[in-house]
Amino acid sequence: MGQIELKDIRKSFGGVEVIKGIDLQIDEGELVIFVGPSGCGKSTLLRLISGLVEASDGQIIIDGDDVTGKPPAERELSMVFQSYALYPHKSVRENMGFALTVAGMPKSDITAKVDEAAATLKLEDYLDRKPKALSGGQRQRVAIGRAIVREPRAFLFDEPLSNLDAALRVEMRLEIARLHRKLGATMVYVTHDQVEAMTLADKIVVLQAGQIEQIGSPLDLYRNPGNLFVAQFIGSPKMNVVDCTGVGTTLTFGNRNTSDIARNADGATKMGIRPEHMSLCAEKDGILVGQIDVMEHLGSDSFAYVNVTDVGLFTVRIVGHSEAVVGDVVGLTFGSENVHLFDAAEKTIPA
Ligand SMILES: Nc1ncnc2c1ncn2[C@@H]1O[C@H](COP(=O)(O)OP(=O)(O)OP(=O)(O)O)[C@@H](O)[C@H]1O
Ligand SMILES: [Mg+2]
Repeated sequence: MGQIELKDIRKSFGGVEVIKGIDLQIDEGELVIFVGPSGCGKSTLLRLISGLVEASDGQIIIDGDDVTGKPPAERELSMVFQSYALYPHKSVRENMGFALTVAGMPKSDITAKVDEAAATLKLEDYLDRKPKALSGGQRQRVAIGRAIVREPRAFLFDEPLSNLDAALRVEMRLEIARLHRKLGATMVYVTHDQVEAMTLADKIVVLQAGQIEQIGSPLDLYRNPGNLFVAQFIGSPKMNVVDCTGVGTTLTFGNRNTSDIARNADGATKMGIRPEHMSLCAEKDGILVGQIDVMEHLGSDSFAYVNVTDVGLFTVRIVGHSEAVVGDVVGLTFGSENVHLFDAAEKTIPA
């Protein structure tokens, strides 16, 4: 249960196509995350699956049933929103059981289901409270509980944690991971948060302007981005990208810094290297030489922003503390195995 298939799904609003032909297979029990820039169509795609938005073209198939024209109630999916949308005058118990009450389920069954969901979500002590007497994280758990009791074929989450502060986000992220493991249910999840996407997803779908750029496991997208967009979208801080010219195995940056990178570089016009794959070294040992523009000390890590004349600004991640200071002239090194090269069409050049 919970297998979802999208076939050439399209959606236009007032003549403007915002979802431009999406083909996607979501397997039973998978946690699939949609990421992409604001306005790329993540929420619209989730709403198309839920039935809250009607498709202009294409098919949506859930567990073998074509549900394309069916209303949300007949799709047996539960959606959890960023705004918890709880009833303020109902208790936690009433909020969680409301859909079952409306469906006419016997009261004792509702009580049992709500109790079970409350135990899963550690909400037992709050069942008689009203939403206003709960923290943001507790409210979000009630919203998730309300989804759980319906025993949907799949859960749809639209940025469920983005109203929470940083510490609560981490806590709720772990709870969602546990919940997914416990329920084994299909989950489709929209987020802006890199860490949520990388840690929760079985599969990440990167969207841009209503189309899929790439689908893959988090580490696959991190290691093998198919193009420049995905390379810069996945990973935080984002990948450094500078102009270059690749001929044979030689890269030339800014007309003067040349490096043999011991891999095919033919046709490269852009070179990418992640901050965690660069290090500072003595000027004489650097592949590139630059000057430190800004230093950031986070305790666990330090970030050096190094300006290389005629080439660009590089972010370098240093684990722990760094003694380097602003104004230092430093060398930059990196292993050729971590270099990403892109052609004029911004497609990845295989190593
Ligand atoms: N009901 C609507 N009528 C007209 N345009 C809409 C409607 N809903 C969404 N859009 C447009 O469709 C595009 C995709 O919107 P959507 O909300 O799916 O983006 P998103 O990826 O979820 O963005 P965000 O990250 O900001 O939430 C946007 O350009 C938006 O303005
Ligand atoms: Mg959205």
